[in-house]
Amino acid sequence: MLVQTALSPTKFDKNASTFVAIGATYEGRDFDLLERMLPLVDYIEVTPETIAEVHDHEITLSDEVMTELKNIGKARQIVVHGVGLSIGSHEGWSPTYFRLLDDLLEQVDVAWHSEHLGYTKVDDQHLGIMLAMPKTEEVLDMVCERVNKIQQRYNLPFLLENIVHVIPDFPGDFSEARFLNALVDRTGCGLILDVYNLQCDAHNHGFDIPRFLNELQLTNVRELHVACGVEHNGFLLDVHSQLTRSSTVQLAQDVVRRSEGSAEVVVYEFMPEAVPGMGRDAIAEELGRLRVAFRN
Ligand SMILES: [Fe+2]
Repeated sequence: MLVQTALSPTKFDKNASTFVAIGATYEGRDFDLLERMLPLVDYIEVTPETIAEVHDHEITLSDEVMTELKNIGKARQIVVHGVGLSIGSHEGWSPTYFRLLDDLLEQVDVAWHSEHLGYTKVDDQHLGIMLAMPKTEEVLDMVCERVNKIQQRYNLPFLLENIVHVIPDFPGDFSEARFLNALVDRTGCGLILDVYNLQCDAHNHGFDIPRFLNELQLTNVRELHVACGVEHNGFLLDVHSQLTRSSTVQLAQDVVRRSEGSAEVVVYEFMPEAVPGMGRDAIAEELGRLRVAFRN
């Protein structure tokens, strides 16, 4: 059977320096990978759009993967991490995303749901990429209003994640960290800090990570992401296709220590397409390394 290694929910010692739960991406239809991962993780992160299928011009969640998730949910916590909401599009967000999320939440219990602080469409034209928003008062007002609506609609914690900057930031009223601080102050939402995204920004644009972490209210960080991609023409890409670098894990450890117990889980993110290249055993070993790094 799919889930045989049920753990009782883990109690975490909030005072321990780097003691947090471990999570991993899973998008279904890979039992070999799931069997290797389940003994090593406390959370499974799922993306509604990735497990969706198109039938008769309608996008719906895959019944097959939802059956898997229901089984996984008996043994592990599930967190939803969307990519298609486009909370930062001036013309409005994606209604399709909410339909998929509604359907998923009706079928499985999740600990919280989250999205990215960015936009994927302009004037309803899909960009094929996610871009960061200008850090202006106008944008902050718009995003806060939308976050409040999401929190009213779902009786679940909602988290937003810092995304990688493909292009340099448009000049704004806030630094990256102060924008995130203000967002949480005004809405009460939580943050996901993707430390690999910070490293990409540092590599590609000279982003000052120590300064950012000193400015950011780290007790707002509830979840961290670790990942690794590849360099192309000197540009470090956020493609989630590699095992993590030790510098990424060390950065995540630093944030967890400084979060004063607010950080609950570190999620290792990788694309399903990258699994054959990395190897399922290597992914399991990576999760084992993360357990040593964050559970001791
Ligand atoms: Fe991430």
